[in-house]
Amino acid sequence: MKEKLETILNKTINEIKNSESIEELESIRINVLGRKGELTLILRSLGQMPAEERSALGKRSNEIKTEIESAIEEKKDKLSSSKIDHILKSDWIDVTLNRADFAKSFKPGHIHPIYTMQYEIEDIFSSMGFQILDGPEVETEYYNFEALNIPGHHPARDMQDTFWTEDYNLLRTHTSAIQVRGMEKNKPPFRVIGPGRVFRNEAVDAGHSNTFYQIEGMMVDRDISVAHLIFFMKSLLKEIFKREVKIRLRPGYFPFVEPGFELDINCLICEGRGCSVCKQSGWVELLPCGLVHPNVLRYGNIDPEEWNGFAFGLGLDRLVMMKYTINDIRHFHDGDIRFLDQF
Ligand code: PHE
Repeated sequence: MKEKLETILNKTINEIKNSESIEELESIRINVLGRKGELTLILRSLGQMPAEERSALGKRSNEIKTEIESAIEEKKDKLSSSKIDHILKSDWIDVTLNRADFAKSFKPGHIHPIYTMQYEIEDIFSSMGFQILDGPEVETEYYNFEALNIPGHHPARDMQDTFWTEDYNLLRTHTSAIQVRGMEKNKPPFRVIGPGRVFRNEAVDAGHSNTFYQIEGMMVDRDISVAHLIFFMKSLLKEIFKREVKIRLRPGYFPFVEPGFELDINCLICEGRGCSVCKQSGWVELLPCGLVHPNVLRYGNIDPEEWNGFAFGLGLDRLVMMKYTINDIRHFHDGDIRFLDQF
């Protein structure tokens, strides 16, 4: 019996060594340690052995059992890790890209010149204590017209023809819609700007687009005068153009300001001598503005007896055109890389 045990051990260890798969290992285990396995049968028969042999044989049988079990485990680990190695080798894909080739074919983009200008102006106004507000591009008639002192029957609506949605909302025609939202959110005194994209039903040409950009500005405080307006506008222009810019005010009509102005700047291209950009006048119309109409303050729940303010609507496209001598507004929306690459 003792020899038989040692033969089982040697034979099994050999088989384990030579086995090539986990399935093969499993059948070796069943043959020896399974319910009807060789070693199991011996262990079971120990009961009938004479007592003096039983304990030595029992001890050895258990040692052999443990030895075989751990040999199987060890081999199993080896086999499964080589199986993983095999999968890793056969299923390997190169997920990296050749960076040099990729870099050659790829051109990083950059911020559009209009937005560069917008962010620059936001910085300038933030430094002067203005909050930056946002408003929706699809507006209600109330915010775009009604609350800006332009009732339904008013001819001023014709100056800003726009695109209407089926439920009678509209694409905002100016950032002035943000004024009313600003008044609803703030208690005076306050200073806000509202940059954004605006839309009009316009015939498109070099100077006009159906989609353009503005920055609205509004300051509400006590005893605001046109002098405050001029001061802020001159400070802004000096920061943008990095030099003193001559301005002039002409009367301008907008129902939401009184008095209202068109602020012109001295043409920076010809220094005021007259050129094609300023149509030989020496001046370029840049900035409609004025003192906020009392009705508009009332719509914003502000008492016009106690507070007043100025407002302006800066045309961003025009400003960028002036700064870089761009002669056609349509370039901004063409998406032509040759144009955009210049900035
Ligand atoms: N919202 C006016 C426009 O787009 C501009 C403006 C703004 C005029 C604020 C006066 C005050 O034409």
